Amino acid sequence: MINLKACFFGIIVQTFVNTQHYWNDNKMDLLKKTLENISAGRLLDICSGRGEFINSFSNYLTNFSEIICIDNIDLPENTFRLPNLKFLKMDAENLNFPKNYFDVITLSNSLHHLENTGKVFAQIKKIVKDNGFIIINEMFSDEQDNAQMTHVMLHHFFAGIDRETGGFHKNTFTKNQILEMVKEVFSGQIELMDYKNAKTEGISIEYLNEVIEKILAKVKDDNIREFYKKEAEKITNNFKQYGFELATQLLLVLKQDI
Ligand SMILES: C[S@@+](CC[C@H](N)C(=O)[O-])C[C@H]1O[C@@H](n2cnc3c(N)ncnc32)[C@H](O)[C@@H]1O
Repeated sequence: MINLKACFFGIIVQTFVNTQHYWNDNKMDLLKKTLENISAGRLLDICSGRGEFINSFSNYLTNFSEIICIDNIDLPENTFRLPNLKFLKMDAENLNFPKNYFDVITLSNSLHHLENTGKVFAQIKKIVKDNGFIIINEMFSDEQDNAQMTHVMLHHFFAGIDRETGGFHKNTFTKNQILEMVKEVFSGQIELMDYKNAKTEGISIEYLNEVIEKILAKVKDDNIREFYKKEAEKITNNFKQYGFELATQLLLVLKQDI
C-alpha cells in the first residue's frame, strides 16, 4: 500500500507531440525517495489512453499485483508493455468492478474529458478499498506563464475543434475548479502539489503549424474554420513571442474517507 505520509510526487511531462509522458530529471531523486517502498496492490487506471501516464507512474511503485487500464476506445493488444496489466474497454461512468476492489485508482488528464465527473467519482468511491488512494493528475488553465499559455491555448484549440466535430472535450479547468470539484465529493485527506514540467525542446514554428493545420482540416464548415484560423493565429503569435512550454499540472492524492 502507498505510504501517504507526504505523497508529493509528480513531474510528468505530457507532450502534444507524441503524447508520451516524461519524468523531469530534476525532481527524479525527490520523487524516488518519496515513492520508495510503495506497493500499489491492485491498481486501476481510468481513461488510460495508451498508457502514457501509467507507464511512467508505475516506475515509482516498488510493486503491484495487477494493473487494470480502462478506456472507451479500442486499442491494439500490444499497446501496453507492463507485466500484469490488463486493458478493458469500458466507460468511466459505468465501472464494472466489485466494491472495495482497488488499492489505488488513478485518473490522469481526463477530468475535462468526462461528461459526468460526479458519476465517475461516485463509482470510484465504491470500488476503491477503505484504505485506498485515489490519484488525480490534471493540467490546469490558469497560473501559467506566457510560454505555457501556448500549450493551454493549443489545448483549448484542440478541444474546441473536437466539440465542433461531435466530440466531448472541455477546455481545461482552473486549478481551483479542480480542487472544488474534488472537495465536493471527497471529504478525506487530500495532498496536493502542482509541478512545472521539464523544459520542452524541439518545437519549431513549422511543426506547430503542421499540427494546427492537421487539426484544422477536420473542420468542414467555412465560417467555423475561419474562426479557428484566427484562434490559430493567436497561438502562433504567442509562440513566436514567448515559445512553448508544457503547462503546470496538479497532482492530487486522496485518501478514501472511511
Ligand atoms: C487526454 S487522454 C488521457 C490519457 C492518459 N490518462 C494520460 O494521462 O495521458 C483522455 C482519455 O480519456 C478517454 N475517455 C474519455 N471519456 C471516457 C469515458 N467516458 N470512459 C472511458 N474513457 C474515456 C479518452 O478515450 C482518452 O484516451
